[in-house]
Amino acid sequence: MSRPIGIIGAMESEVELLVSLLENKECRKIGKHTYFTGTLSGTPTVIARAGVGKVNAAVCTAAMILEFAPEYILNTGVAGALGKGITVGDVIVADSCVEYDLEYGALGDARGSIFYPDSTSEIVMPADEEFSARLEAIANEVSGGEFAVKRGIVATGDRFVSSAEVRNDILSAFPDSLCCEMEGAAIAQVCRLYSVKFSVLRSMSDSADGEAEMDFPTFEKLSADRAAKIAASLAKSLS
Ligand code: ADE
Repeated sequence: MSRPIGIIGAMESEVELLVSLLENKECRKIGKHTYFTGTLSGTPTVIARAGVGKVNAAVCTAAMILEFAPEYILNTGVAGALGKGITVGDVIVADSCVEYDLEYGALGDARGSIFYPDSTSEIVMPADEEFSARLEAIANEVSGGEFAVKRGIVATGDRFVSSAEVRNDILSAFPDSLCCEMEGAAIAQVCRLYSVKFSVLRSMSDSADGEAEMDFPTFEKLSADRAAKIAASLAKSLS
């Protein structure tokens, strides 16, 4: 059997539709993470719910890579909109990911710098170009003009962003960020450590501002399902 695609979401709402669509489903638990394997629209797939935040996401991704050897990993789910003109329901496909909450204070290293154990470093982690281009095309097909699809920077940090102050802080450090969430760049970093191709697909549940705590529960399900439907179409296109 060919190598599976890996799909990771943080919350139940972000993976439940995809898990329900898996055929010949089996599951395996590693620690508190459950990995569902099977075929999604004919494509071998492994799906996991990571839990919220960078550590959950990193551990879930590392175990997925080591135990299931996915060819690509897709992070799917919801996010807070940051980019100009991006509204609830719009979809962002990552060109790259940054960790906006990596700060070095007096040490003086640039914000977001990631230092790898082999002494290389980077700030902007590029998503796989071919994978993201395919995702963008599929997202546009699924949209049929109903919602906007944009490619750009996904900004990740261990924080639910719900104020103009934090929103502006992220945008002042990374002005081209299109959305903020809590897992994408952690998954990206593990994929970079293990040379696995990745991309991130996020549908906007809120605008990461003072309204976010009201908008998020209202739009979480609709937005999570939107991203999941695009992920399912991606699997179909790979079959
Ligand atoms: N995921 C969805 N909305 C978010 C927000 N405002 N901040 C961080 N992660 C999110």
